[in-house]
Amino acid sequence: MSFDADYYCYYKESVECSLPDVYDEKYADLFDISYLWTEKDDKYKVAPEPGNETFNVLHISDFHVELDYVVGGEANCTTNMCCNGRAVNKLSVPNGYNYSELLTDDEAEGLSLYNSSYIDGVFVKGSFNQSVIDNALVWEPASTFGTYTCDAPEILINNSLVAIAQFQQANNLTFEFSIFTGDLVDHDEVKYTGYEMTKKSEEVIFRDIKYQLKDIPVYSVMGNHDNFPYGEQGMQKYGFNNMFDWNSELMSELWLDYDWIDFETAQEVKEHYCGFSVTTKRGLKIIALNSNVFYFKNHYAYINMTKDPDSFGHYSFLVDELLESESKGQRVWIMYHIPASSDALPIHSKLMGDIIERFSPYTIAAVFNGHTHYDQFQILYQGNGSDSNAKTIDNVVQHTWIMPSVSPNYYLNPSWRYMEVDTETFSVMNAYTYYAKLNETFYNFSNEPEYEFEYSSREAYDIDWPESSPLNATYWHLVAEKMKDKNSTMQMYSDFSMRYSPEPDLCDEGDCDSFWCYVTSFTTQQYANCLTAEGVSDSSS
Ligand SMILES: *[C@@H]1O[C@H](CO)[C@@H](O)[C@H](O)[C@H]1NC(C)=O
Ligand SMILES: *[C@@H]1O[C@H](CO)[C@@H](O)[C@H](O)[C@H]1NC(C)=O
Ligand SMILES: *[C@@H]1O[C@H](CO)[C@@H](O)[C@H](O)[C@H]1NC(C)=O
Ligand SMILES: *[C@@H]1O[C@H](CO)[C@@H](O)[C@H](O)[C@H]1NC(C)=O
Ligand SMILES: *[C@@H]1O[C@H](CO)[C@@H](O)[C@H](O)[C@H]1NC(C)=O
Ligand SMILES: *[C@@H]1O[C@H](CO)[C@@H](O)[C@H](O)[C@H]1NC(C)=O
Ligand SMILES: *[C@@H]1O[C@H](CO)[C@@H](O)[C@H](O)[C@H]1NC(C)=O
Ligand SMILES: *[C@@H]1O[C@H](CO)[C@@H](O)[C@H](O)[C@H]1NC(C)=O
Ligand SMILES: *[C@@H]1O[C@H](CO)[C@@H](O)[C@H](O)[C@H]1NC(C)=O
Ligand SMILES: *[C@@H]1O[C@H](CO)[C@@H](O)[C@H](O)[C@H]1NC(C)=O
Ligand SMILES: *[C@@H]1O[C@H](CO)[C@@H](O)[C@H](O)[C@H]1NC(C)=O
Ligand SMILES: *[C@@H]1O[C@H](CO)[C@@H](O)[C@H](O)[C@H]1NC(C)=O
Repeated sequence: MSFDADYYCYYKESVECSLPDVYDEKYADLFDISYLWTEKDDKYKVAPEPGNETFNVLHISDFHVELDYVVGGEANCTTNMCCNGRAVNKLSVPNGYNYSELLTDDEAEGLSLYNSSYIDGVFVKGSFNQSVIDNALVWEPASTFGTYTCDAPEILINNSLVAIAQFQQANNLTFEFSIFTGDLVDHDEVKYTGYEMTKKSEEVIFRDIKYQLKDIPVYSVMGNHDNFPYGEQGMQKYGFNNMFDWNSELMSELWLDYDWIDFETAQEVKEHYCGFSVTTKRGLKIIALNSNVFYFKNHYAYINMTKDPDSFGHYSFLVDELLESESKGQRVWIMYHIPASSDALPIHSKLMGDIIERFSPYTIAAVFNGHTHYDQFQILYQGNGSDSNAKTIDNVVQHTWIMPSVSPNYYLNPSWRYMEVDTETFSVMNAYTYYAKLNETFYNFSNEPEYEFEYSSREAYDIDWPESSPLNATYWHLVAEKMKDKNSTMQMYSDFSMRYSPEPDLCDEGDCDSFWCYVTSFTTQQYANCLTAEGVSDSSS
């Protein structure tokens, strides 16, 4: 039996095609990857308890540089991507329209329309785009440091990295390493994000990161935007790799050159579609995977996926690494761009959940994703997600941290985070999220955005949780329960999710109805089953 064509039809042809529930007993033999491992020994059923010392790790994600961003470009566009030189609104501004007259005098005077940049790491204010005022060509002009309808101008990325560097100095702390959970390239139409643009965006951003973070190793995964053709990845096994080799070769060289990985790891990057594993100097293993292998837009992912879901060798790579660590009592972080529930093909997604369940909580200390641009978490429970009452504290398996973006796209404030990590178990003890209010840069003469403290994951939700316990899946289960019980907690989660967006979701008005399902589902099927059980529809945030 094969479901390849049904999935293809469902996802690619927008036709009604019914899909199997991948958790259905009928298909237990089909959607099964347990042949890759031996059964979990009892001694691996509990996580080690943390010690009393921590070190700091930076987490950044979803930069999406818009290299053709133009200060004064159309931010209220009807084309696919605003703020670049081509962006237009299908309705031209009416006669007599004058953007600056819509503003208060103070605002008009401080309009941030300067073409600025960081030169040798120092902010230099450029020249004012007077033509915006004189000619009324656009409805809403793109602002120096970014606009809520666009991806990030490079200067916003530099500003964020400068803020991180300054934060370390001001607080006398150093991030021992950083993880970057993907997406460097912007969301423009494929014809404008071709090979050259994709490659250039990748090179520019990694250069900017290296310039500011200096000797801090940065471990990265590639996002769905970080390949050309967009979203695609062919598998070596069926002879489809040549077309994509350029990317893993480029990353392998670049990361080696920046001293983020060693020679041996650089070879691995080439073999595993930019995936690799490294062991940090403290002994933590980090496994990085390319999630395009299960991305629903990747055409190659459908090939023989029912019978050969590991055609990329991605799961056997992951499981081999986990088995090796388990046998040594080594703890592991796993990172991949697309969360297993968001845009992941259901079969692959279930298998990912199965693997994570098998190696939690003893070996897997944490899982990290990006992709959604929202600040979120998702809990993996045992079961198929169709029974909300089965999501109990005893059924909690693992969870993932979904990292907020630097890109403001769409109506989001840029954000980064650091974590306090236990030196013995590498469990995350706390996470501190910082954000910059982008709207405060619109009329401030293009002065630099200021990143400020947003919240501490341990304090914000006011959960009764021992100081010595990590912020593990059980902790997030308690947060999820509180979100379900109290709109104010749900609203807090939502506000964090969008970093106090000026266009927030309003939970009292039903904007957050799918959020409980979202945070208590880990796989695509579990999420779908939860939405059905709860009678709500997906609002995907
Ligand atoms: C999902 O699990 C529930 C028990 O929690 C079970 O009743 C149901 O049949 C399962 N669904 C499928 C498709 O296997
Ligand atoms: C931390 O734990 C170690 C043992 O693991 C102990 O010797 C030490 O006193 C503890 N330090 C503090 C500050 O509690
Ligand atoms: C100034 O803004 C206009 C839009 O009003 C844009 O078309 C133009 O390219 C910008 N000029 C410069 C020099 O950036
Ligand atoms: C903006 O500044 C950059 C760097 O100084 C420069 O390369 C670019 O030509 C300027 N663009 C415009 C439209 O003035
Ligand atoms: C960003 O920083 C890099 C590294 O210093 C620099 O080369 C680049 O020109 C900067 N770009 C902007 C727009 O600030
Ligand atoms: C818009 O208003 C400003 C300030 O009143 C003025 O300087 C500018 O010339 C006006 N632009 C147009 C196109 O009328
Ligand atoms: C954006 O453009 C539309 C026309 O496409 C116009 O009706 C609307 O008022 C504009 N909004 C702003 C904030 O400029
Ligand atoms: C900064 O931290 C180091 C240890 O991490 C310590 O030795 C040093 O005294 C601290 N400096 C200041 C100014 O607090
Ligand atoms: C699909 O995968 C199965 C199992 O690995 C294999 O036997 C079969 O040859 C594959 N089909 C094709 C067309 O490659
Ligand atoms: C989370 O940590 C607490 C305290 O250490 C522990 O009791 C619980 O079992 C852990 N949860 C998971 C899912 O490992
Ligand atoms: C920016 O947006 C925040 C909401 O995130 C709001 O509280 C603040 O007043 C706004 N600032 C300006 C200058 O509009
Ligand atoms: C909580 O939000 C729901 C909408 O999701 C709304 O129906 C309900 O009235 C809200 N409850 C309170 C106490 O505001």
